[in-house]
Amino acid sequence: GWKKERILAEYPDGRIIMVLPEDPKYALKKVDEIREMVDNDLGFQQAPLMCYSRTKTLLFISNDKKVVGCLIAEHIQWGYRVIEEKLPVIRSEEEKVRFERQKAWCCSTLPEPAICGISRIWVFSMMRRKKIASRMIECLRSNFIYGSYLSKEEIAFSDPTPDGKLFATQYCGTGQFLVYNFINGQNST
Ligand code: COA
Repeated sequence: GWKKERILAEYPDGRIIMVLPEDPKYALKKVDEIREMVDNDLGFQQAPLMCYSRTKTLLFISNDKKVVGCLIAEHIQWGYRVIEEKLPVIRSEEEKVRFERQKAWCCSTLPEPAICGISRIWVFSMMRRKKIASRMIECLRSNFIYGSYLSKEEIAFSDPTPDGKLFATQYCGTGQFLVYNFINGQNST
């Protein structure tokens, strides 16, 4: 309910706003608090943002004024394609999800040009599977660079969690999406 909000989209269940580094201190303070909470929820040390002055933060605000989604994006130059492992014979969707959660992921060492890095993407647990993350990425694609709509090929995900991998595979329409910032520091962009 800030007086000046940069509203990117409005939906029956809430709205998406964008916060930029030049915004008032109260907005940046809130974003910092949310990022800390998201990092705790992700449960491990997150890579620091590359260049804070060029980050864009999208927040999904529910109709009851709660932050139920957060996406932090940054400019990157390179991404690395996830190498899809052959799945064992899998009968059900649950089996597929269980398998995805257990296995580690690997990616190519060949850098591919990318523009937008999704440093953090998080949705409040009770509000997941309502396309909140998908809607935030759609908004990001049309607002990351003024006047252009990013293709899915120009986006990379920072060291995805099992949930993030399942989501990105579905959103990008392939398990071979781009990643960056993975633990092998030599290859981080
Ligand atoms: N398991 C299996 N498929 C999943 C999934 C999951 N946990 N999360 C998303 N998907 C797939 C589904 O196909 C889904 O469509 P459907 O619900 O119609 O089947 C599609 O992706 C779109 O999902 P969406 O509703 O837009 O995602 P979300 O709002 O639930 O948010 C995350 C997805 C990953 C952001 C959310 O699970 C989350 O915050 N997880 C904890 C933080 C985290 O791990 N972030 C990822 C960092 S890389």
